[in-house]
Amino acid sequence: MHSAIPRPATFLHSGPLRGTVKVPGDKSISHRAIMLSALAVGESRISGLLEGEDVLATAAAMRAMGAKIERTGEGSWTVQGVGVGGLMQPSAALDMGNSGTSTRLLMGLVSSHRISATFIGDASLSKRPMGRVIDPLSLMGAEFNASPGGTLPLMVRGLVPAIPIRYRLPVASAQVKSAVLLAGLNAPGRTEVVEPIPTRDHSERMLRGFGADLSVELASNGVRHIRLMGEAELKPQNIEVPGDPSSAAFPIVAALITPGSEVTVTHVGMNPTRNGIYKMLEAMGANISYSNEREVGGEPVADITARHSILHGIEVPPEVAPSMIDEFPVFFVAASVARGRTTTSGLDELRVKESDRLALMASGLQAIGAVVTETEDGLLIDGSGGEPLEGGATIKSALDHRIAMSFAVAGQHCYKGITVDDVTPIATSFPSFEIMLMMLKGDDNSSVFPDGSANP
Ligand code: S3P
Repeated sequence: MHSAIPRPATFLHSGPLRGTVKVPGDKSISHRAIMLSALAVGESRISGLLEGEDVLATAAAMRAMGAKIERTGEGSWTVQGVGVGGLMQPSAALDMGNSGTSTRLLMGLVSSHRISATFIGDASLSKRPMGRVIDPLSLMGAEFNASPGGTLPLMVRGLVPAIPIRYRLPVASAQVKSAVLLAGLNAPGRTEVVEPIPTRDHSERMLRGFGADLSVELASNGVRHIRLMGEAELKPQNIEVPGDPSSAAFPIVAALITPGSEVTVTHVGMNPTRNGIYKMLEAMGANISYSNEREVGGEPVADITARHSILHGIEVPPEVAPSMIDEFPVFFVAASVARGRTTTSGLDELRVKESDRLALMASGLQAIGAVVTETEDGLLIDGSGGEPLEGGATIKSALDHRIAMSFAVAGQHCYKGITVDDVTPIATSFPSFEIMLMMLKGDDNSSVFPDGSANP
């Protein structure tokens, strides 16, 4: 888990960002690749795996439950699975660090195995709501002993045979959907998740790829019915993990707001349940182009090029939220320097991520001179019209990697730069972030704005 010693860093504006970069593997896909490989019968190989702390927490937990997982090179891993139903009793608590995805998906897996597990995590994760997975997994027969408010530390005792259920998602959450499906893998009969609002579908795609009997029916009212036959036998796979569109959003926004920039990010996952940020930036007038479009391991992938653009404010439709749920922090940065007002709503979920991202982004952006109003379920942002913001503030990252990276990007467009009090959380999803940003800034970058103002 990441260092307990905070490391502050200051991010100053620079000349144009230029270059071609690759971002680490997709976090959601990496978690699922480890979990499903660990449940297959035989050896799977994974390339492009995100080696961030969140995914390493998943790998450590699957090891603790019997899978053999080895790193064979950079991003290359082999996994010897134990077979569905074959998870073993872990001998100690499973430390999930900062990772909500590890916790909720693994709670699903444990729920239909004859084992019990205690989940613990850091201060951020220990505040996050687990009731949303405890509810359906209890219907499937698992027993829980959680901390007050349905939080970590918590203990799960699985049931075999688990009870297959039909569950309508009360919250648009791929984590809840995936927890139920993963529990359903070892339940006799059919488990069905009814999804009124689409969320990322990596679990469905990968379960199918591993040979599970899974169907998705799109009803005429737009509701998705995902049906999985349990007691599945998963066949080992070779999986190539595409680059994470959530990580790619940071260099892309940095390029869009920095005059003279042109940045290409190669090999980025372009799953339509994940690409809302790019659609919304384009709606704001962003110059973004896609090339080399192809399919990798059942997921669409492309190279993305962004050039500095004059952005204008938009109203983000609330139904787009799930397809850009992790990108709002950096999207708010883009909106802060656009022309006119950007309106967002329906973002209650942002309050229960690694931090309360609505509150922290509002206060942080205000501290650097942006004009932001926080509502119950969104932010209203009156952009600077392309003018740099004042900056000069120290922002608390509050154990939230995306808050830290968003303000690092915002530093690109501030007169005085921005200090982030602790950048160590970035290692949960994007360990190479600071190096990438330095590379794009280049050695010979001037620290003078195009308007002549200097970096203090
Ligand atoms: C994830 C789903 C999202 C997202 C998280 C990863 C996943 O959470 O915020 O970073 O891998 O399933 P919710 O589905 O709870 O919104």
